Amino acid sequence: MAHGRRTRNPPRPVVGIAGLGYMGLATALAFAHRRVPTVGYDIRPELRQRLRSGRSLIYEKGLLPLLRSEVRSHRFGVVDGWTELVRQATVIFLCLPSPRGPTGRIDLGPIEQGVRELGGALRGGTEFRLVVMKSTVVPGTTESIVRPLLEQVAGRDSATLGVASNPEFLAEGSMVHDALDPERIVVGVSGTREARLLRSVYRDFPSPLVVLTPTEAELVKYSSNAFLALKVTFANEISRVAERVGGDIDRVMDGVGRDSRVGPKFLSAGPGFGGSCFEKDVAALTERARELGVPVPLLGQLVPANGAQTRHAADLVREAVGGLEGTSIALLGLAFKAGTDDVRESRAVPIAEELVRAGATLRVHDPAALDNFRTIWGQREPGGPDGLVFCTTVEEALDQADAAVIQAAWPAYRRWLPRWSRLMRRPLVVDLRRALPERLRHRGDFEWVGLGVGRAGEGTQAPARGPVP
Ligand code: UDX
Repeated sequence: MAHGRRTRNPPRPVVGIAGLGYMGLATALAFAHRRVPTVGYDIRPELRQRLRSGRSLIYEKGLLPLLRSEVRSHRFGVVDGWTELVRQATVIFLCLPSPRGPTGRIDLGPIEQGVRELGGALRGGTEFRLVVMKSTVVPGTTESIVRPLLEQVAGRDSATLGVASNPEFLAEGSMVHDALDPERIVVGVSGTREARLLRSVYRDFPSPLVVLTPTEAELVKYSSNAFLALKVTFANEISRVAERVGGDIDRVMDGVGRDSRVGPKFLSAGPGFGGSCFEKDVAALTERARELGVPVPLLGQLVPANGAQTRHAADLVREAVGGLEGTSIALLGLAFKAGTDDVRESRAVPIAEELVRAGATLRVHDPAALDNFRTIWGQREPGGPDGLVFCTTVEEALDQADAAVIQAAWPAYRRWLPRWSRLMRRPLVVDLRRALPERLRHRGDFEWVGLGVGRAGEGTQAPARGPVP
């Protein structure tokens, strides 16, 4: 039995989460799981109702069991309005969307709307409340837009109303893990009271707290995403070189990433980055720098370079098949990456458009994202190519296909069954993620072409000889 004086921690302030989308919900449940009483609010009444009964609208690994257990434990509850949220919670996190607006700037509309409503609910109150921006906003937003707007609408000042920034780094597919166990927690504060409150709500998280100013914290968020996007883009460019000189990009990047100055993660070449964050954040940071008159040539090249990789992926399919006119192609994996049903900025869209435009019929499949893909495909600008066959099984997609293209590396595709090859007119797999393990690639029942993998002898370029001294 342990001896010595037991230090009793003071009770934790109640946390309020405004906006219960992917990020807000994962954040709320992580607080609840770490024994912080948490209440959430979202403007969608049907979502509030579902969450109360332990049901979610989104597919995210581990989220549903955590939701059920935290609803059952009563550490997570859902309230019906801003007033109730403000009454119960001392620290209120804003997890509202910051979608991409025209010219790459973010659209602050939903956040301003939320801040106004929150400000209205805070009017007349005298107890200290801390409002924390978790949504991704360009550096300076919390201090120069959120704080003045909130203070003005609430009719309060920093004596009873604190404002801070606390960006999130959750990746889809591992949100629950990332929310419960972040590698670091970045907080941006302008006073000791705010810092103390944030330390208190994060007390039971096993993560270092990095305490910065709000603007610095906002810049950390954008820089992190831009740097990760840069790493992916770098690996993508080298993968094209590997294809030509004859090599395997994964083996090359393993050699590069073992240098701890580089690190092994985010060096997996593919059809280009997708998802709701990378392109949006890089564009917003680039646009903000442009407004400030700061030249950022490297950042400015990231999104175009990503587009070039997606075109390269489509070209690889065209070359492997040997012309697409009149062919039937199975496109496997429509989500922006495996492990999610999210199709936002998925490379499957431009790749599908390119293949259809080149004359192929596409049979598309995804274990989780088929419905979402159907929706965004239907919402594209009119005039684009049409005519996809949506397939609910891999077998249906492969039936009489001239090639299968793996766009997202779902585990289901990785074990490539011999009978799948037999279903195809031409058993050719163009693997944009090198999803199939090496031992299957040469099994013999299908031909395998991997993005970033040069085929021995074929297209291999010998270096030009320099002059003989
Ligand atoms: C990202 C950040 O990782 C997260 O910290 C931030 O909060 C939100 O944006 P997410 O968009 O969910 O998360 O996905 P992520 O796993 O980062 O992948 C983004 C894109 O890059 C995907 O299209 C993925 O397939 C691609 N990618 C990632 C690669 O092509 N290669 C890699 O090595 C890693």
